[in-house]
Amino acid sequence: MKWPANITLCEVGPRDGLQNEAAHLSTEEKIKWIDSLTDSGFSFIEVSSFVSPKWIPALADAEEVLKGIRRQPGVVYSALVPNERGLERALRAKVDAVAVFMSASESHNKSNINKTIEETFPVLRPVIDGAKQENLPVRGYVSTVFGCPYEGEVDPNQVVKVATKLLEDGVDEISLGDTIGVSTPTKTARVLEAVLKEIPLEKIALHMHDTRGTALANIMVGLEYGIARYDSALGGLGGCPYAPGAAGNVATDDLVYLFKDSNVETGVNRDKMNASLELLEQLVKHTLPSHTSSYLRSRGWKE
Ligand code: HMG
Ligand code: MG
Repeated sequence: MKWPANITLCEVGPRDGLQNEAAHLSTEEKIKWIDSLTDSGFSFIEVSSFVSPKWIPALADAEEVLKGIRRQPGVVYSALVPNERGLERALRAKVDAVAVFMSASESHNKSNINKTIEETFPVLRPVIDGAKQENLPVRGYVSTVFGCPYEGEVDPNQVVKVATKLLEDGVDEISLGDTIGVSTPTKTARVLEAVLKEIPLEKIALHMHDTRGTALANIMVGLEYGIARYDSALGGLGGCPYAPGAAGNVATDDLVYLFKDSNVETGVNRDKMNASLELLEQLVKHTLPSHTSSYLRSRGWKE
């Protein structure tokens, strides 16, 4: 198998995972968990979100979380930013990277950020410019790439159009989101064929939710295409509150296991990651959905 030799795992659990939890963790609990992720060796952690607290109450403490975490040199602590107001907050909290986000489908974009696709670009442009002035990298999430909860099928050409415009506006990387976990290996390949005709491979990350258990299979397709950056959430937490039916992200712990006997380097220490997984389950106070957590739980959290 010709997989990339180095894979970056973007741990989005503190943002994508916790935004969807009914019972909110306290700021101290979030900080303790994020510190354990740092100890596990992740090089990119999406720590929180500077969106409207009215829209995502679970992450209203983004500033406090950013200020409270222990920062390991070399680790990128990133956050979602929807507008200039969010950028001001994120810069004050000293994020290392900014993530803007929008959808390839009109109706999800409208339900998630209350704007049409055309109205969104002029809102994101000053966010991108402002982050660049501070020399911060910017990733651009494109949601509903593989299907929309309201519209169903999404044209890959529309995905290419939105992603290309974000790149023209200055984002460094596009994360292609299977927001509701509908993709299959065949569809993933079809979308990647269209995207990679127009956008360089090194600018693409995959963000696969795992509603039907196909996320790892879709990531295998991404690996065959040479994609080296994958978003995942520890324990398989996650979901978009404005995308009905969206289950958790691909579980980081299952994804790390996928690379176990390969030559792929993820930088993650599995023992420390397993300790972070156990801590997370204690904090969220419910059973985590990942396969690996189920296995570890049955063995007292030891491999
Ligand atoms: P809006 O209601 O259209 O805009 O929201 P607004 O400007 O009228 O703002 C509403 C209120 O929020 C106002 O307060 C603003 O001041 C305040 P009020 O005057 O009513 O007291 N506000 C803010 N407060 C703090 N920080 C801010 C901010 N902005 C406004 N940055 C808005 C528009 C974009 C703000 C809203 O729709 C929003 O926050 N949406 C975020 C939704 C969200 O976070 N969804 C989940 C993340 S995306 C996702 O999960 C997908 C992803 O994982 C990839 C994938 O899976 O595909 C990334
Ligand atoms: Mg997501």
